[in-house]
Amino acid sequence: MMLQLCYASERIESEQDLLQELSDILTTARNFNQQHQIHDVLYYSHGKFFQCLEGQAEVVENLFQSISRDARHHKILRFKDTIVEQSHFSKWSMKYVHKHSEISSLFSRLGWAQFEPHALQPLQLAEFLKILYRLEENQASLASPKGYKQRGYIPYF
Ligand SMILES: Cc1cc2nc3c(=O)[nH]c(=O)nc-3n(C[C@H](O)[C@H](O)[C@H](O)COP(=O)(O)O)c2cc1C
Repeated sequence: MMLQLCYASERIESEQDLLQELSDILTTARNFNQQHQIHDVLYYSHGKFFQCLEGQAEVVENLFQSISRDARHHKILRFKDTIVEQSHFSKWSMKYVHKHSEISSLFSRLGWAQFEPHALQPLQLAEFLKILYRLEENQASLASPKGYKQRGYIPYF
């Protein structure tokens, strides 16, 4: 039995390049999560994060406290915790999923023009999670093609 803790938050714009920031978060998270048997998924789109942490309750709770204090995001909304039999992300210490058409379709079906994780009601959250459980991880999106900024083209965000 493990705790599943999900939250939504909003990125705080910074000087730092988004791809670099995501890559830094993944590096920190993978080291820590692996050592503490935490498995999770992180989704980022339209300036918003959605993360779902799974692991031993106390460890997850402590990690969430430090994530909540992280100056890279704010407007943190914690959804209702649930207990899960086993992790949905056991293959990963952190599964990163980038902006995906299936998720965009879900949100437009729900009536939002863009990714609005703060607005999710419980059944909608369950639907969103089901997609995240199933989607392939995609880290390739974090490898920023050289010079893409100069071309004014941001591939995935
Ligand atoms: C959106 C987001 C998700 C994060 N997810 C994790 C995570 O899963 N595991 C982790 O160890 N750190 C994660 N971090 C980083 C933590 O917030 C924090 O930097 C890290 O726990 C080190 O905290 P400390 O400097 O208070 O020790 C995340 C940060 C952000 C902004």
